[in-house]
Amino acid sequence: MNGKLSKNIVLIGFMGAGKTTLGEVLAKKLRVPFVDTDQLIEQEQQRAISCIFEEEGEAAFRKMETETLRKLSDGKKCVISVGGGLPVQPQNHELLKQLGITVYLKAQKETLVKRLQGDTTRPLLQGGDLLEKIETLMNQREDVYEQVADLILQTDNKQLEEVLEELIRGLTDEEVS
Ligand code: S3P
Repeated sequence: MNGKLSKNIVLIGFMGAGKTTLGEVLAKKLRVPFVDTDQLIEQEQQRAISCIFEEEGEAAFRKMETETLRKLSDGKKCVISVGGGLPVQPQNHELLKQLGITVYLKAQKETLVKRLQGDTTRPLLQGGDLLEKIETLMNQREDVYEQVADLILQTDNKQLEEVLEELIRGLTDEEVS
C-alpha cells in the first residue's frame, strides 16, 4: 500500500457518520490528498455553511455542492468526503459514479444522536427534537445511500482503526496497491 490509487475514494453517509475523520486518516495512510466538499465550499464562499443556508437557502447550497463535485473530477486521485445531503440529489448520481468508488459509512440513529448532540454547525438539525429530525431525514435518504454505494461499512460501536481496516480490506488490488 504505497499510495497508488487508481480511483478516488468517495465517503458518503449521514451527518455525524464520521466521513471527515475517517477520510483524513485514510488519506494519510494511502498518502494521497484529502478533500471535503463542505470545506471546499466554505473556503470558496468565505463563509460558514450555516451562513449560506441562512443567506441564500438550501437550494443555493445544493447547487454549490454539484458545482464542487464537477470540479473534483479533474483533480489528482484523492479521498473525498461529501456532505450528507449531496448523494440525495439526483443530479449528483452520475457525477459520483464517475468520480470513483463510493463508500457508505452507515450508523444507527442512536449513534448519530450521541455524536450530533449540541452541534450548532448543521442547519438541518437545529431546533426541535434531534432524534426526530435525524429519523425524518434518514428515512428519506437511507435507500439512496445504499443504492449509490459501491461498499457499505457499519460504523456503530467500532473504533476508527477498525473501520479503516475494513475499508482498506474492501478495496480491490486494482483500486489501490
Ligand atoms: C448536510 C450535511 C452537512 C452539510 C450541510 C447539509 C446534509 O455535511 O453539507 O449541513 O444535508 O446532510 P456533513 O454530512 O459533513 O455534516
